[in-house]
Amino acid sequence: MISPVLVLLVSFLCHCVTAGRTCPKPKELPFSTVVPLKLSYEPGEQISYSCNLGYVSRGGMRKFTCPLTGMWPINTLKCQPRVCPFAGILEHGSVRYTAFEYPNSVNFTCNKGFYLNGTASVKCMEDGRWSHPLPNCSPVTCPPPSIPNFATLKLPKSSAENSSFYQDTVVLDCLPHYAMFGNDTIRCTEHGNWTELPECREVKCPFPTRPDNGFVNHPANHVLYYKDKATYGCHETYVLDGPEEVECEKFGTWSASPTCKASCKIPVKKAVVLYKGEKVNIQDKFKNGMLHGEIISFFCKDKERKCSYTEDAQCLNGNIEVPKCFKEHSSWAFWKTDASDKQPC
Ligand SMILES: *[C@@H]1O[C@H](CO)[C@@H](O)[C@H](O)[C@H]1NC(C)=O
Ligand SMILES: *[C@@H]1O[C@H](CO)[C@@H](O)[C@H](O)[C@H]1NC(C)=O
Ligand SMILES: *[C@@H]1O[C@H](CO)[C@@H](O)[C@H](O)[C@H]1NC(C)=O
Ligand SMILES: *[C@@H]1O[C@H](CO)[C@@H](O)[C@H](O)[C@H]1NC(C)=O
Ligand SMILES: *[C@@H]1O[C@H](CO)[C@@H](O)[C@H](O)[C@H]1NC(C)=O
Repeated sequence: MISPVLVLLVSFLCHCVTAGRTCPKPKELPFSTVVPLKLSYEPGEQISYSCNLGYVSRGGMRKFTCPLTGMWPINTLKCQPRVCPFAGILEHGSVRYTAFEYPNSVNFTCNKGFYLNGTASVKCMEDGRWSHPLPNCSPVTCPPPSIPNFATLKLPKSSAENSSFYQDTVVLDCLPHYAMFGNDTIRCTEHGNWTELPECREVKCPFPTRPDNGFVNHPANHVLYYKDKATYGCHETYVLDGPEEVECEKFGTWSASPTCKASCKIPVKKAVVLYKGEKVNIQDKFKNGMLHGEIISFFCKDKERKCSYTEDAQCLNGNIEVPKCFKEHSSWAFWKTDASDKQPC
């Protein structure tokens, strides 16, 4: 009996000698598949290369037969990604991509004021088509704004009925007696909503108080409201300190509370003083006193330098302080030169 092992061995050796060499595992090519794929092939065995899904080659599939030499012929197959239609332009937006080919994706974003109508990303598929329809950038719109209570639309009227676009503005106003808290201008935002609406609140002011030595006039109503006005005045010889007209403001207070300030009696019998840049006799010019707020300049002597200088004095609510350097002449000292006649220092 011949052992089966020996038979196998002999048949193997004979095979090598007589039937030529086997072909090795074929070379791998990018993006392609070999059928059938084995570690070795007998001469005469066939293989075929074909491109993977999503890839194509000119000329299509390649078939090869294992030759007696045991060396596969040179394979020129080149599998290239499928190309999807051009998608590089998005009006009012931008496109990010590396290539419009399988298996890449393209990303889309829209400029401010536009929103993406469609998907933000499309993928180039195996069949060379995009996974989704290409998007577009549509303008953001805001619905007509809701008008707050006690508010009215100032402008533009059409925006109240029609929808508005990004950055459109609408101005609101409050009804009389109502004050606005917040911004009167609302703007259509990139999110398609309006910026925060203002609020209109009813505002009342207390009756203004009469100033001492003066009077105040206001509308003869039971209640004084926002934007109502009052006017102030003073009795003779008194001067109003503050504006003549005041207004009821949004926090329920008046814009000012003027008072009446007293005038000053002239503080010396006789003197030449500077008033608004002119030399005047105080006793003539201010016979009826100085009004609150008025300023005069007294002349003083600099004895050493034999010259004169001035110092100011202001009437403040009935009080005026004469500068210490001022010396009033006795009326009989006619030979002395008045400070106002001396050379200025
Ligand atoms: C597209 O967006 C995705 C997710 O944000 C990101 O991973 C990818 O790198 C982007 N592609 C390009 C080409 O910008
Ligand atoms: C969104 O895109 C579709 C398809 O391109 C288009 O018919 C539609 O009008 C767009 N919508 C808006 C609000 O622009
Ligand atoms: C919208 O605006 C147009 C033009 O500004 C105007 O003719 C129209 O009456 C407005 N209102 C509506 C509801 O379309
Ligand atoms: C009011 O809103 C407008 C438009 O949004 C803006 O330009 C303005 O600065 C705002 N005013 C104030 C006082 O916030
Ligand atoms: C508008 O919409 C954006 C995004 O949804 C939100 O963050 C914002 O608070 C909204 N603004 C107002 C005033 O409601």
